[in-house]
Amino acid sequence: MKGKPGPGPPARSRFRRVRAAGLPPESGAPEGPPAPSRFRRFWALAPGTVFLNHGSFGACPRAILQLQAELRAQMEAEPVQFLWRRYDERLEVSRAAVARFVGAEARDVVFVTNATTGVNAVVRSLELRRGDQLLTTNQDYNACRNVLVETVRRAGARLVVAEVPFPVRNAEQVVEAVLRGVNPRTRLALIDHVTSPTALVLPVSRLVRELEGRGVATLVDGAHAPGMTPLDLERLGAAYYTGNLHKWVCAPKGAAFLWARRDKQAGLQPAVISHGNNTPRPGHGPFQDRFDWPGTFDPTSWLCAGEALAWLGRRLPGGWEALYRRNHLLAVQARRLLCQRWHLEPPCPEEMLGAMATLPLPERFQGRPRNGKIDAEQLRLYDQFGIEVPFLRFGRPERRYFRLSAHLYNSLAEYGWLARALEVV
Ligand SMILES: Cc1ncc(COP(=O)(O)O)c(C=O)c1O
Repeated sequence: MKGKPGPGPPARSRFRRVRAAGLPPESGAPEGPPAPSRFRRFWALAPGTVFLNHGSFGACPRAILQLQAELRAQMEAEPVQFLWRRYDERLEVSRAAVARFVGAEARDVVFVTNATTGVNAVVRSLELRRGDQLLTTNQDYNACRNVLVETVRRAGARLVVAEVPFPVRNAEQVVEAVLRGVNPRTRLALIDHVTSPTALVLPVSRLVRELEGRGVATLVDGAHAPGMTPLDLERLGAAYYTGNLHKWVCAPKGAAFLWARRDKQAGLQPAVISHGNNTPRPGHGPFQDRFDWPGTFDPTSWLCAGEALAWLGRRLPGGWEALYRRNHLLAVQARRLLCQRWHLEPPCPEEMLGAMATLPLPERFQGRPRNGKIDAEQLRLYDQFGIEVPFLRFGRPERRYFRLSAHLYNSLAEYGWLARALEVV
């Protein structure tokens, strides 16, 4: 597989018409959507769009999509060869690359379809008793919260929600808030490595140490972490860690992993039980047997994960370390630009950011009720200005925010365009 971009999407875009739609001229500012970074040509993103929402679903580079298309062609040419006879050998190559990347041994890593599935596997494998407690935070992800709610409901257990402040002054405030929710009945804590609504990188090493030290099993939901921040899972020592590869590693959709500490693997069942429970394979442990085959499916996103890691790791001379730094710095600079423009106090210190940042929407957006699945102003931002950025509501009393993402294909000018568009949308 080569790193060269493909032929590219059609030059015409429906966003050509957005050209400065209603934006007052600003000296030195571009008339239409500004140029993304020079790396954008490697991605299949629609021309004319300003894609500031890598966080929701990621975006896969053309080279990896091309590889996936080749694998799919092989799968359809020789279905049994691909999905059965030669499945394991391909899977192992990708698994070994992912395990190395996250600081783990391959025998402790399995692929899952997404972080939601990883959380489901762990939480639904718990054998809770009446009166047991699970712990989460007010900044967790709704789908994962739902798994906890349903699990405690069935068991007659209780869910405790730690109130982590936002705005937040420092990591210590997070640790204090979480530990206040612990008591002798707490069986497991769900800790997000990077929070979804507030884009905070939580102090997971400290939290895992403190919680495990109190006898509380930790499940780290790292949906956004792989590819955004370095991982060393052996050293972290959580009971379980799940992370997406289709977000910041830019693998095709449906690639994620679950890591489990050895003492936790025996009691762990996948969300979908399949052949592996009674069909051992030579060279694999029972943990891998149970997870590796969830029933007939398209495994090409799992098989592309290793190549996605290698491809993205080759984009900058400094490899992954340089990529982490570059994306973090861009998110920090974008947030500074917006805070200065609107005289905002940043809601968290820069060292608690990864490659995303959440900021309050300007005052005139506040207090407007939700109306439908997506807020009207967010729809207008895309339809009129080609800007993709998520809006969200958080806290009590509720405030409205937006969350920006910064990946290799983004440029600082794109956030300036966002600032101007938010002033008129
Ligand atoms: C913290 C967190 N957990 C879980 C998820 C779910 O990820 P997926 O839809 O890939 O399962 C997300 C998605 O953004 C998230 O932010």
